Amino acid sequence: MTGRFISFEGIDGAGKSTQIASIAAWFQARGDEVALTREPGGTPLAEDLRALVLNRPMDSLTELLLMFAARRDHLQTLILPALAAGKTVLCDRFTDSSFAYQGGGRGLPLRMLDPLADWVQDGTEPELTFWFDLPPAMAAARRAGAREADRIEAQQLDFFERARGGFAARAEKAPQRVVRIDASVAPDAVWAQVQAVLQQRYPA
Ligand code: TYD
Repeated sequence: MTGRFISFEGIDGAGKSTQIASIAAWFQARGDEVALTREPGGTPLAEDLRALVLNRPMDSLTELLLMFAARRDHLQTLILPALAAGKTVLCDRFTDSSFAYQGGGRGLPLRMLDPLADWVQDGTEPELTFWFDLPPAMAAARRAGAREADRIEAQQLDFFERARGGFAARAEKAPQRVVRIDASVAPDAVWAQVQAVLQQRYPA
């Protein structure tokens, strides 16, 4: 039996975490066994890499390689075994974040990103990706007052504009997989959109 693999994307401050909690509850209510995880991270090694990549100064290519090293360990150690066990894997960020942040934000070319995604994922891809989209200025306002920004969250608005463009390009390339959610509205209105997608994709 193989489970479902679903990812959640969007710039920092899009309100992903709140929605993911509701989505996990939605699948659990259907009787699914849910594995809730995140990137970078999800396993002991990948969480150690997360602490490094989000805090230590480094060049963009090193950042990209560490994101994919963490992803490889996460896939091998957690995601693939969970899918093999029939679980519903809900992953807070996955490869689209590398294309958006290291590709769009940092400006690394697709010729570096595409082969890495190929080797590291070796054919494993989320069946559905929720992209929580909102204007970067609105996301920045939501982030202000939250906990202290890490190295990536501390980037300026133009970085997040480019990251948003990166998500848009990924959505355009895979319109069946990536569903855009308007995350500029109130949490209840975001949830209504999410629920409509869930009910349509996973009818009772
Ligand atoms: P995030 O899930 O937003 O963490 P939190 O909300 O707990 O701070 O992710 C951490 C950061 O890592 C976020 O700024 C996006 C970034 N990131 C990349 O730059 N590339 C990647 O491939 C991934 C998975 C995340």
